[in-house]
Amino acid sequence: MNEKIKKICCIGAGYVGGPTMAIMAEKCKTIQFTVVDIDELRIKNWNEENLDLLPVYEPGLDKIVLRNRGVNLFFSTNIEKAICGADIIFIAVNTPIKTEGLGAGEASDLTWIEACARDIGKYAKNHTIVVEKSTIPVKTAQIVSQILNIESLQKNNQAASNKTFSVLSNPEFLAEGTAISDLLNPDRVIIGGEDQNAIKTLVEIYKKWVPQNKIITTNIWSSELSKLVANAFLAQRISSINSISAICEATGANVQDVSRAIGSDSRIGDKFLQSGPGFGGSCFKKDILNLIYLSKSYGLIDVAEYWEQVLKINYWQQNRIYELVVKKLFGNLKGKKISFLGFSFKSNTNDTRESPAINIARKLISEGAILNIHDPKVNESQINKALNSLKINNQSFKKWHFHKDVYETFNESSAIIILTEWNEFKDIKWVEVIKKMIQPAWIFDTRSLINGEQASNIGFKYWGVGNDN
Ligand code: NAD
Ligand code: UGA
Repeated sequence: MNEKIKKICCIGAGYVGGPTMAIMAEKCKTIQFTVVDIDELRIKNWNEENLDLLPVYEPGLDKIVLRNRGVNLFFSTNIEKAICGADIIFIAVNTPIKTEGLGAGEASDLTWIEACARDIGKYAKNHTIVVEKSTIPVKTAQIVSQILNIESLQKNNQAASNKTFSVLSNPEFLAEGTAISDLLNPDRVIIGGEDQNAIKTLVEIYKKWVPQNKIITTNIWSSELSKLVANAFLAQRISSINSISAICEATGANVQDVSRAIGSDSRIGDKFLQSGPGFGGSCFKKDILNLIYLSKSYGLIDVAEYWEQVLKINYWQQNRIYELVVKKLFGNLKGKKISFLGFSFKSNTNDTRESPAINIARKLISEGAILNIHDPKVNESQINKALNSLKINNQSFKKWHFHKDVYETFNESSAIIILTEWNEFKDIKWVEVIKKMIQPAWIFDTRSLINGEQASNIGFKYWGVGNDN
């Protein structure tokens, strides 16, 4: 370990910054880690004694935070102090898609990256390694370097003369729900940059727990691009299998059999072949949009169109599930109650960003359905944020209810839609459930979570994605 590294700061205490620094603190006991954020509530929650209130739910995270918090892991809103004492600064802030102006709807909004770079330029001392952990457009390192130098050379900046920076790219590949095991046993760590000493310093930190042959060093642009491409390829597999799910339903094939059959080919591999309601999460859509924007910027229109299709199939899958529900319920949802099981974009996370559940819920509500929603980890206020801006004929209204007890969602319900593959849902006592429902009682299983044959034997009408036998 490079003994010169005493303090590391991470800007951004979200789904990436919090868990990543918790693991680094666990593995590098001689370094002090401070995670900072402008969001006071988030920092307060990271410091909560009641670990149920931590802002990020990830299996295993609470114990790691408890072991290291106050020892060599700190959460703070004092950004200036943390930057000023740090040898290495990770930038792990949000990089959403621009909603207005040039590139709106496709390009990344770098407002938060720029704000970080300005703060670092202002407050850093001596030589600082600045690491891009956020997912960013290719060539962002150039922008970050420029801003760091501009800020550090401002007049009145007394320490300017001895300030220097090395910018590295070190994208994060953790998936929510499995963040801790992904961070502890990554398939690879990518470090891109020009300054070989800075690269060596970061490699030494990861070597504390990651085998050296899994640490790949590249130039900075390959590193930045690899992150976007990894997400685009993963999303492409999901859109591919979802497109096949419709063919399975039309022909009598079963998409899970097809997945198993093709996934056994070692050249294809068995991961990311689970058909579902479309991919959600904060990153796949935005990173593909970013790739599309990049392709267009370089005049690669056919390439842009190729990746656009991956997103198009994702919307199409959500839409076709909604249409199917309407059709199976006799084309009319007015006043019908629907049990909505799951709201997070996947299991084992409380994150609802871009969850397919949101889009499907909105469409069902606009048909007149009343949704009774349950999710083991998502709270009512998150659902409120996602659904309550819903306006129909310029009128806002609430046509959904949140239930802590999943069994309360079934009373007088016409259909159950399983949107998230929570394990808890496998243990539901369907024999009891059907007694509470209006006949014909439907189960729409968008995650192939339960045994359709058993459900049919109990008396349910069952539809499973890619398996409409
Ligand atoms: P997030 O929204 O959960 O967290 C970002 C945090 O940064 C917020 O708490 C915000 O308040 C804070 N922030 C913004 N500007 C700031 C500033 N100037 N100073 C201090 N704090 C500031 O986002 P996230 O999910 O952690 O994602 C962060 C980045 O990592 C994104 O670029 C994302 O694409 C990438 N990423 C995310 C995941 C994931 O699973 N969520 C995985 C890999 C990579
Ligand atoms: C994804 C990538 O897997 C991570 O490597 C990456 O770091 C991260 O994006 C990021 O950049 O944010 P994440 O979105 O957290 O991670 O979760 P995934 O497991 O990839 O699932 C994404 C979506 O795809 C979920 O809605 C999930 O249900 C869906 N999915 C996944 C399927 O529909 N089928 C599958 O076979 C796999």
